[in-house]
Amino acid sequence: MNQDYVLRCVLTLCCVLVSARASNWLYLAKLSSVGSIRDEETCERLRGLIQKQVQICKRSVEVMDAVRRGAQLAIDECQFQFRNRRWNCSTLETMPVFGKVVTHGTREAAFVYAISAASVAFAVTRACSSGELEKCGCDHNVHGVSPEGFQWSGCSDNIAYGVAFSQSFVDVRERSKGQSSSRALMNLHNNEAGRKAILSHMRVECKCHGVSGSCEVKTCWKAMPPFCKVGNIIKEKFDGATEVEQRKVGSTKVLVPRNSQFKPHTDEDLVYLDPSPDFCDYDPRTPGMLGTVGRQCNRTSKAIDGCELMCCGRGFQTQEVEVVDRCSCKFHWCCYVKCKQCRKMVEIHTCR
Ligand SMILES: *[C@@H]1O[C@H](CO)[C@@H](O)[C@H](O)[C@H]1NC(C)=O
Ligand SMILES: *[C@@H]1O[C@H](CO)[C@@H](O)[C@H](O)[C@H]1NC(C)=O
Repeated sequence: MNQDYVLRCVLTLCCVLVSARASNWLYLAKLSSVGSIRDEETCERLRGLIQKQVQICKRSVEVMDAVRRGAQLAIDECQFQFRNRRWNCSTLETMPVFGKVVTHGTREAAFVYAISAASVAFAVTRACSSGELEKCGCDHNVHGVSPEGFQWSGCSDNIAYGVAFSQSFVDVRERSKGQSSSRALMNLHNNEAGRKAILSHMRVECKCHGVSGSCEVKTCWKAMPPFCKVGNIIKEKFDGATEVEQRKVGSTKVLVPRNSQFKPHTDEDLVYLDPSPDFCDYDPRTPGMLGTVGRQCNRTSKAIDGCELMCCGRGFQTQEVEVVDRCSCKFHWCCYVKCKQCRKMVEIHTCR
């Protein structure tokens, strides 16, 4: 596993070309000027929401700051997961935030939908647990003594509330389209798969009580995985995503694998309808299509972060730059770490 991933997960412990319209609410992440979303009037002024989302905003004003944090979480996680790919999930200051890169039903769109639906469920659940909302708190259905003999106690994350909120807020546009288009089916499936990445990885966290930590009494609660873990899971689903097409079964429309030799996708897998562009070149007609000129690449890697693939065969240039790093770190009792600063020269390769 990647080093900086591990580090990041510990520290935060924790730790596109999408249908432009449907994910416009992600623009909330860019609205730093609005301040806190406190009243119904603010809901009217939020750009990027469709009318039904404005109504939800008015009914649940107190939840909206969490939704906004969710939008930011989705963007940050997308940029982290795609940092070594040709499309690096960079955002624009205008709507839609990922430009037009995600207007087709590609794998990238599938990822963006899944991570966004998950991030709203996550951020709202977190807000419930932290006690900042009146509408929800910890999950009180988790109580009593478990079969293993520990006591359920403490604040279990109320994931059911977060998931339900995400379903109503994020899915509303697709639902209002009446689930008729294949694209709506794709988006809804991937939204649900994103939320499942949290639901199927809930964990039990425990604390021991008793003389000098003897664990005579153990109390436990249910907790969500850290969001970086959720990002990893959805990225794995992106790598193994299934290409699907719409088929009519009786009177309902369903998505089935395009290649009938492949096993059908599960609820947790991502699905896509359209092949992705190669993302090699800047395209002024497609906002967000930045191309890979100037991107850093790895000279020795054979993977997509390697100069060969990243630069699409155009070649690269090499620069030597000085970097300052922490080194010779010593742990001092108790409790801090002291490091020296070291300077070293490293080669950086960038695509032509
Ligand atoms: C993505 O790559 C472009 C260059 O193609 C760069 O300008 C931009 O800063 C990168 N975005 C992120 C989020 O790393
Ligand atoms: C470059 O790729 C090689 C091979 O995949 C890897 O061992 C190395 O750590 C990478 N270097 C950087 C700076 O990421």
